[in-house]
Amino acid sequence: MSLKPFVKWAGGKRGLLPELLARVPETFNNYWEPFVGGGALFFELKQRGLLEGKQVNLLDSNAELINAYQVVQSAPEALIAQLQQFQAQHSETFFYQVRAWDRESDFANRSSVERAARFIYLNKTCFNGLYRVNQSGFFNVPMGRYKRPNICDAELLLKVSEVLQGVGLKVADYSAVLNGAEAGDFVYFDPPYDPVSKTANFTAYGAASFLADEQRALADVFRQLSELGCFVLLSNSDTPFICELYAQYRVERVLMRRVINSLARGRGEVFEVLIFSL
Ligand SMILES: C[S@@+](CC[C@H](N)C(=O)[O-])C[C@H]1O[C@@H](n2cnc3c(N)ncnc32)[C@H](O)[C@@H]1O
Repeated sequence: MSLKPFVKWAGGKRGLLPELLARVPETFNNYWEPFVGGGALFFELKQRGLLEGKQVNLLDSNAELINAYQVVQSAPEALIAQLQQFQAQHSETFFYQVRAWDRESDFANRSSVERAARFIYLNKTCFNGLYRVNQSGFFNVPMGRYKRPNICDAELLLKVSEVLQGVGLKVADYSAVLNGAEAGDFVYFDPPYDPVSKTANFTAYGAASFLADEQRALADVFRQLSELGCFVLLSNSDTPFICELYAQYRVERVLMRRVINSLARGRGEVFEVLIFSL
């Protein structure tokens, strides 16, 4: 079976894989993906055997997402059993009950397996698979309109569990990569995109948003890694601000098919940029 992300993720890069693959360095040491999200490029590199013998580090600031990866890695059977129960109980009432777990005082006492199952269940059943929390940090995406959502893809979860063995998984800010990356490593940055218009407010994946100052700080981390001798690849939207930030590097325009966007007119093909350090 083909290896692919086990969650649907806004900004997922499956539509850009051929362009990304064409720019993966021929040889590199270790692999870092500090905004991993659904991990489209990681799974594709794994599938193609391009990460054999390398230390892989996947980071994201979303603690519920990383907990899900960790549980898929270490306890896939328990997770599958819990997801199968959720699948059997799925209804609108059940969706809103599970969604409300994070508003209850004992949420922190839930097991990591329960939290991972909740995360995957909500991802498969909520509107467009979006992840959005309100100012108090509570998940607030409404239920989606799927006739028969595939809540528990046991075969995929087992396969993903296998390929996650030995992989470093961490809840961290992307800048943590500076503490571990070495010359010759390959780092792929896929940050929340610079919005192409004022209405395209696609920047918030969690409580903290990623605005112009964060894009500038990221460009500085990109520069430091590049000076260290890492191969750095970054994707972002094709805006004058981003092109200017990375003016000293190679910036290439590529066509991306967008999959997740709440506005129908936001679907379709758009230009994005890929930026390389070397
Ligand atoms: C565009 S998405 C990545 C999509 C991913 N490449 C895929 O194929 O699904 C950006 C990710 O960055 C994460 N993120 C946002 N701010 C971050 C930060 N400061 N440090 C690390 N991760 C962050 C979000 O949680 C989100 O998963």
